[in-house]
Amino acid sequence: MKLAKYVDDLPRLDTIEPIGEMEGIPYYEVRMQQIEQKLHRDLPPTTVWGFEGKYPGPIFDVKRYKPIKVKWMNELPKKHLLPVDTTIHGAEADKPRVRTVIHLHGGVVRPESDGYPEAWFTNGYEEVGPYFSRKIYDYPNIQRGATLWYHSHAMGITRLNVYAGLAGVYIIRDPREAFLNLPRGPYEMPLLIQDRSFNDDGSLYYPSEPDPPIPGVYPSIVNHFFGDNILVNGKVWPYLEVEPRKYRFRMVNGSNSRFYNMKLSTKQLFYQIGTDDGFLDSPVMTEEILLGPGERADVILDFSQYWGEEIILTNDAPATFPNGAPVDKETTGQIMQFKVTLPIECPDESVIPYRLTKIIPLLESQANVIRYLTLVSNKDQYGRSFLLLDNEQWSAPISIEPKLGDIEVWNLINIANSTHPIHLHLVSFLILDRQPFDLDYYKETGEIVTTGPIRLPDLNERGWKDTVKANPGEITRFITRFIPFTGRYVWHCHILEHEDHEMMRPYIVMDPFN
Ligand code: C2O
Ligand code: CU
Ligand code: CU
Repeated sequence: MKLAKYVDDLPRLDTIEPIGEMEGIPYYEVRMQQIEQKLHRDLPPTTVWGFEGKYPGPIFDVKRYKPIKVKWMNELPKKHLLPVDTTIHGAEADKPRVRTVIHLHGGVVRPESDGYPEAWFTNGYEEVGPYFSRKIYDYPNIQRGATLWYHSHAMGITRLNVYAGLAGVYIIRDPREAFLNLPRGPYEMPLLIQDRSFNDDGSLYYPSEPDPPIPGVYPSIVNHFFGDNILVNGKVWPYLEVEPRKYRFRMVNGSNSRFYNMKLSTKQLFYQIGTDDGFLDSPVMTEEILLGPGERADVILDFSQYWGEEIILTNDAPATFPNGAPVDKETTGQIMQFKVTLPIECPDESVIPYRLTKIIPLLESQANVIRYLTLVSNKDQYGRSFLLLDNEQWSAPISIEPKLGDIEVWNLINIANSTHPIHLHLVSFLILDRQPFDLDYYKETGEIVTTGPIRLPDLNERGWKDTVKANPGEITRFITRFIPFTGRYVWHCHILEHEDHEMMRPYIVMDPFN
């Protein structure tokens, strides 16, 4: 079924309010429920999973240095909406089918509140995972102002839970940000971009097995999933009526596998002001923005010269990225539309500041540890190809144990065939550089021979990141400091089909005084 584009208004997501206080701290309750929701004018209501009755979930809009507490409550049915592969580690037949645990992506939080994949729980906490730690999560919000997002992270079914709808946006605002005089109020909004496919009855389509099928495994996980409809804030190809003025959009790629290389049909520039975890030093003017799953871009668009125009936000990222099939210009090549049709309400006094913040780099000379980590493709026990970090599966002994306060440089050596968006919990990092190497020679000899110059990160990647695109045949280096909490976290590929199929590893920040 081909759905008409730009017939639905972009949903404005509600902001959630606390229901009270607990120990003097604002306290929220958030229910995960199965609901029916119209995702497009011409689709019957779709059964999805949402938070507080909505997919995507409500926006958390909190202030830096003001902690909050959140009780995530599972009120979902016992039966999963989508096909659960019980051959996947952590999703075996003896586990409840419907398990959830919520992770705040980009959040600097203690391990007990981080949403460890094995800290899952079922409806009413009837059953809990081996690492279940607590019902009420603490979010200290001590980090830089940024666009974070929350999503389910349950072991072995993250791809299905997020696809069913368990995702939402979480904004931390630094009080000093007000002085920057950026577009705000009705002129600021998140854009959560996700791809979905539908059956004719409007239900979500997610494959039950790869093509060709795996003998003896049904349902089976797939290598990646690309939907043929693009949704923003829960609507298929929506439009947004805007005034001829500046707007701030916090873009989040919340898709399972799809990358978006975004441009505007008018060829106008994006003024990118922030990366995953905060502001860039200065705005970067760019014609295109590439976001892998999990990545965010904070941008200003200036519509003041476009009165009366219909501007399309386009996508030309192949799927898989970067060497897969090109997008279909009529469908997956488009994301949403801006119609510059609203009269200006009041003069636009917002600005695009010359300076936004001061990023103080971490120096390689200060690094305590340098790690070399491969991204490698391998075969599981059913002969299915899967991807591994450092050629280790989830349950292998933990090999990454930085000491609290340590600075580390990680070399991600991608010897697989596509780009993997690699994400670390707890910390933000700065990308140092990327360098190509001879992939074929490495496969023969295990030796790295670089084949080209070191490239600095793109201008719009030179800010704090928590997810980095590691391209095939390249060494991607980043530097980070393991603060401020100790304990067990994870790092993984944010292509959810990879994460669920062993491309995730625990790591532990060690207490140096223990
Ligand atoms: Cu957005 Cu560990 O995930
Ligand atoms: Cu995360
Ligand atoms: Cu991957």
